[in-house]
Amino acid sequence: MNRPRTSRPRTGASSFRCLLAGALLLLAGALGATEAPPQAAIASAHPLATRAGMEILAQGGNAFDAAVAVSAALAVVEPYGSGIGGGGFWLLHRAEDGKQVMIDGRERAPLAASRDMYLDEFGNVLPGRSMDGPLSAGIPGAPAALAHLAEHYGRLPLAKTLAPAIRYAEQGFEVDALYLRMASFRLRALRASEEAARIFLHEGKVPALGQRIRQPELAQTLKRLAEQGRDGFYKGETAKRLLRGVREAGGIWAREDLDTYHVVERAPVQFDYRGIHVTAAAPPSSGGVVLAQMLNVLAGYELDALEPAVRRHVIVEAMRRAYRDRAEYLGDPDYVDLPLDLLLSPAYAAGLRAGIRLDQATPSSALPGAGMPEGAQDTTHFSILDTQGNRVAATLSINYPFGSGFVVPGTGVLLNDEMDDFSVKPGVPNAYGLVGAEANAIEPGKRMLSSMTPTFLDDGQRLAILGSPGGSRIITMVLHGTLAFADGAGAQDIAAAPRYHHQFLPDVIQFEPGAIPAAEQQALAAMGHRLKPLDAAYGNLQVVIWDRTKNAVSAASDPRGIGNAETR
Ligand code: DON
Repeated sequence: MNRPRTSRPRTGASSFRCLLAGALLLLAGALGATEAPPQAAIASAHPLATRAGMEILAQGGNAFDAAVAVSAALAVVEPYGSGIGGGGFWLLHRAEDGKQVMIDGRERAPLAASRDMYLDEFGNVLPGRSMDGPLSAGIPGAPAALAHLAEHYGRLPLAKTLAPAIRYAEQGFEVDALYLRMASFRLRALRASEEAARIFLHEGKVPALGQRIRQPELAQTLKRLAEQGRDGFYKGETAKRLLRGVREAGGIWAREDLDTYHVVERAPVQFDYRGIHVTAAAPPSSGGVVLAQMLNVLAGYELDALEPAVRRHVIVEAMRRAYRDRAEYLGDPDYVDLPLDLLLSPAYAAGLRAGIRLDQATPSSALPGAGMPEGAQDTTHFSILDTQGNRVAATLSINYPFGSGFVVPGTGVLLNDEMDDFSVKPGVPNAYGLVGAEANAIEPGKRMLSSMTPTFLDDGQRLAILGSPGGSRIITMVLHGTLAFADGAGAQDIAAAPRYHHQFLPDVIQFEPGAIPAAEQQALAAMGHRLKPLDAAYGNLQVVIWDRTKNAVSAASDPRGIGNAETR
């Protein structure tokens, strides 16, 4: 192994680059009211969802209207990824006044939920309880978020923006290879729900390629949402059916849960990394905070000047430390005090950095404080830019593939199993191998901690809108995307770049096939890292880039998925 070079302080040239980028950013901000992209762009995980968004833009809708249409379409054609029985975070930038806000449509724990609800009398975790069936479902936030987007940010009524999704639900969509993989993975849970089996399976088996999945009950539920807005879901006929269906199948939802569900407008996490202004998801997502911590640690290195193995090593060490803090400190900000000033401060990051040796891995067990289905494509992300400059980055989820696997009879609503994102028991890993502590313990009405990281990057010249599904690995995918953007990569390269990940526990570097060259693997192992090659690629990054200097818009959908990106 070559001797690792030590990091150099920032060179004059790079400081100048930062200053220049900062000045351009200010200038761009000042010009914000007049500048506009030459084209609109949408990148999403499914071609029918991208098309739905484009249809709405063509009708005069803005990016926020398109976001409603894309969210609802994904709920229909990507039932394994997200849905109106789930939730998500919609990160918005409004061009007319520069407002940046995160619409928090995250699910909440039912009011009858309790801390140990997934433990047996001996305090052991009951396998599957927080994953399958209605007991694993949080109160959905997506319908309220769509109504909120339409009412406060869009131009078009829900009757228009939900129309493509309603059409897809009525006419059906064709089963593709990804659907098959996801349905096989969740076959047992889907079979356990008569309604889910009827809609998503064929005679109890995974349907054939090309078979049409029609969802007439979901179309009716979407129509009630279109006609009555929020109340069309949380009150009236839909609510009645949801409560009856959930309770009859052993769930604990009550009327008050639906009545009191509300979205929250939250200030995004914002910080700068080497002249790039980063705007990302705020708690109850851990995404923005963990991303900021990793980048604040990495800002102290001249990454380009490091040997490849050492570069990767310090990135992994930054991941390890930020995920340790995630496990220890993060949860729903409405329920717990989060030490955000500390976690986001460069001084704290400098302290973390001081503990990183350039020649040796830090075992996670040496840090104070506290399995994921490979190739999973559950959860979803889309990125939208319109020709006014409005932006949406949205990551939406029902958690596991096909959520809880439970469809509420008479509604077509597939429920999430987002309750598993809580720390069901301190120190016991969830489906993504994430551990948590007190801050993310279950409490009635609380939002479970998320990793979803819809993000904007802006260096004054180029703007990127990005995000991905991938459970715990979402945040490091956005990190890789940010580092690639900082290196000047375009949309395609950002979406395609090979991925690796460390999340504190388990103490391993996971990596996609081919992501780390053999020699580098050896160098990392010699530093004390444990390497875990994955059998399959992961993630489904959707990215839109607006290059102001070239007056060009480009977009890319992750080559690992089946989605597509369009400009118009
Ligand atoms: O909110 C979260 O962090 C998880 N429910 C996301 C799950 C996910 O991305 C699964 N994707 N493969």
